[in-house]
Amino acid sequence: MIRVGVIGYGYWGPNIVRNLQGLDDIRVEMVCDKSPSALARVRKTYPSLATTSDPCEVLRSPQIDAVAVITPVWTHYELTKAALENGKHVFVEKPFTSSAAQAEELIELAERKKLTIMVDHTFLFTGAVRKIHELVESGDLGDLYYYDSLRVNLGLFQHDVSVVWDLAPHDLSIMDHLIKKEPEAIVATGERHLNGVEDVAFMTVYFPQNMIAHINVNWLSPVKIRTTLIGGQKKMLVWNDLVADEKVRVYDKGVHIKSGEGIRDALVSYRTGDMWAPQIEQTEALRVELNYFAECILKGKKPFNDGHAGLRVVHMLEAVDRSIQKRGELVRL
Ligand SMILES: NC(=O)c1ccc[n+]([C@@H]2O[C@H](COP(=O)([O-])OP(=O)(O)OC[C@H]3O[C@@H](n4cnc5c(N)ncnc54)[C@H](O)[C@@H]3O)[C@@H](O)[C@H]2O)c1
Repeated sequence: MIRVGVIGYGYWGPNIVRNLQGLDDIRVEMVCDKSPSALARVRKTYPSLATTSDPCEVLRSPQIDAVAVITPVWTHYELTKAALENGKHVFVEKPFTSSAAQAEELIELAERKKLTIMVDHTFLFTGAVRKIHELVESGDLGDLYYYDSLRVNLGLFQHDVSVVWDLAPHDLSIMDHLIKKEPEAIVATGERHLNGVEDVAFMTVYFPQNMIAHINVNWLSPVKIRTTLIGGQKKMLVWNDLVADEKVRVYDKGVHIKSGEGIRDALVSYRTGDMWAPQIEQTEALRVELNYFAECILKGKKPFNDGHAGLRVVHMLEAVDRSIQKRGELVRL
C-alpha cells in the first residue's frame, strides 16, 4: 500500500484526492494546503482525512511514502526536491518545472535516491489517447505526416504562467508519446493582451522525416474547442475531445502520387474509403494514471511519463518562449 501526502487542494488537487480515494494499492494519508479555505473544503468532503497547512508535515512524515505536488508551477521544483530529499516518491503536476535545469537536477536526485518521479501528463491516460497510441504503434496510420491541434477557450487565466505553459504541455506530452522522435526545431508566435503573459500562441514543431506539428492555444476564444487532426501515410484521424460519442474518427483517406517524367506528369490519386469510430475506454484518466503510479513504485517499474518525459516537454516550452520573444525566429533543439 502506497501512502500519499497531497500538497495543493486548489482547482486540480480535489481530482487527485478523489481518484486516489477509490484505489486499492494507494491511499491518501494527508492533504496539505496553505489556504485555510482549501483545508475547510477537504474536511467537509473527507472528515476523517488528516490535514495540515505546513508542507513540512507531509514532507517529513514517516507515514508517507509518496508526495503529490498539485501546486502552481513555480513551486514544483522546491517541493519535489524536498520530497525526494526526504526519501519520498513524487507525482508532480505538469509542467514538471519552470526550467530544464531544474528538471535535470530533480531527475539526477531521484535516480541517485532510487525514487520514482511521475509527471502528470493526464491526457496520455485518456481512452482517446490510449486508442490513438495503439493505432500509431500498430502501424494502422502509417508513417505520420502531421499533428495539428486546436486547444482554445475563454480563460482560465493563470497568473504565474502563460497560455503556452498552461495548455501546450498537453499537446507536447501527447506528441512526445505518439511521435517518439526528437523534435529538431520550433517556431512560435504569441501575444500578450491582458495580464503580462501570452494569452494566444501558435507553435510549429519540426520533427525528422518531414513530420510537422502545429499547436494553437488561446485563452481568449469565445468557444471551447479541443480538436486534433493526425495525418498518416495510410490513414488520418480527427479527435474531438468535447463529444461524448465517436471522440476519435479514423478516415481511410489518403493521397498517392505516381511520378511521371516531369512535374506535370505526376499522377495524383485520392483514396476515400470508410470512416470508423473505435471504441474508447471510459475510465477516468487520473484513476488509470494514479493506479499506474502505485504499480510503478510497487514493482520498481520506470513510468513512461517519468522525469525525462517531463524534461522533454519543458525543453520544448523553453524553445517556444525563446521563439516568441524573437517574433517567430526558428529555435533549434
Ligand atoms: N493535469 C491537468 O490536466 C491539470 C489541470 C489543471 C491544473 N493542472 C496543474 O495543477 C497545478 C495546480 O493548478 P491549480 O489550477 O489547481 O492551481 P490552484 O492555484 O487552483 O491551486 C493550487 C493550490 O496550491 C496551494 N499551494 C500553493 N503553494 C503551496 C505550498 N507551498 N504549500 C501548500 N499549498 C500550496 C494553494 O493555496 C492552492 O490552493 C498546476 O501545475 C497546473 O498546471 C493540471
